[in-house]
Amino acid sequence: MAYAAGVDVGSTQTKAIIIDEDKNIVGRALIYTGANVTQAAEKSFQQALKDANIGEEEVEYVIGTGYGRYKVTFGNKQITEISCHGRGAVHMFPKTKTVIDMGGQDSKAISVSPNGEIVDFCMNDKCAAGTGRFLGAASMALDIPLDDLGPTSLNAEKPVRISTTCTVFAESEILSWLGKGKKVEDILWGVHQSISSRSIGLLRRVGIEEEVTFTGGVARNTGMIKAMEDGLKKKINVCEDSHYIGALGAALFSLDHIFASRKPKVKELAK
Ligand SMILES: Nc1ncnc2c1ncn2[C@@H]1O[C@H](COP(=O)(O)OP(=O)(O)OP(=O)(O)O)[C@@H](O)[C@H]1O
Ligand SMILES: [Mg+2]
Repeated sequence: MAYAAGVDVGSTQTKAIIIDEDKNIVGRALIYTGANVTQAAEKSFQQALKDANIGEEEVEYVIGTGYGRYKVTFGNKQITEISCHGRGAVHMFPKTKTVIDMGGQDSKAISVSPNGEIVDFCMNDKCAAGTGRFLGAASMALDIPLDDLGPTSLNAEKPVRISTTCTVFAESEILSWLGKGKKVEDILWGVHQSISSRSIGLLRRVGIEEEVTFTGGVARNTGMIKAMEDGLKKKINVCEDSHYIGALGAALFSLDHIFASRKPKVKELAK
């Protein structure tokens, strides 16, 4: 049995996935990327190997993706995260037509074909306002752990409208609402709505077609899932492995490579 791996070195977190020949996930790892990107790539891969209980030599092909993909020095190839999120999303939810990847720094809206190929994409590369960083700023300002942001926001009764579109000013706006006596949950729901409305704007640019799949670390935030579903007025696909979908897509591309290298060449068949 050969194994294939994908390592998604994101600007915030690094994810590694190992799959077997039947495309089952056998190992995974998630760590903070930090300042040493090469080390993060290596460490996540080693952790995933340990999780899978296999040796490095059993992994036949490794693809690096994400902003730090060229730092996956032990990898065989690099593929953009847009392609990997598209591929991973269609694998998880075969009817996916539109993908929204919300990461630590960027949000990306991707339109995909039925086999997971990219038709179009759009990203907020200039501003982190629609991303995890905006949520990180809220978490710091309100002194609430990242994990609790979503659940807390769901208790909102009188949501506050967050007007800033800039992460740098988010903290002062949040503090000023606190100063005006607004409840934490009402402020937080406003933060989630603000991110969701900007992400839906991105999605509109590539076209919102059924089904929509939510990927990236922010998909772990239950408040963001609700804010997206409210804004889109429909259910979206999210799963426990949403954070790993880019790494999974890379692992699936690795497996393609393994299978392709096993096929006899046309010339050999003719002999
Ligand atoms: N347990 C959690 N609960 C809620 N949110 C989370 C959780 N874990 C991570 N996140 C969110 O996910 C973000 C990181 O997501 P992800 O790993 O997809 O980003 P990235 O790939 O590093 O960034 P980018 O794609 O922008 O380069 C964090 O900034 C945080 O907001
Ligand atoms: Mg990412």
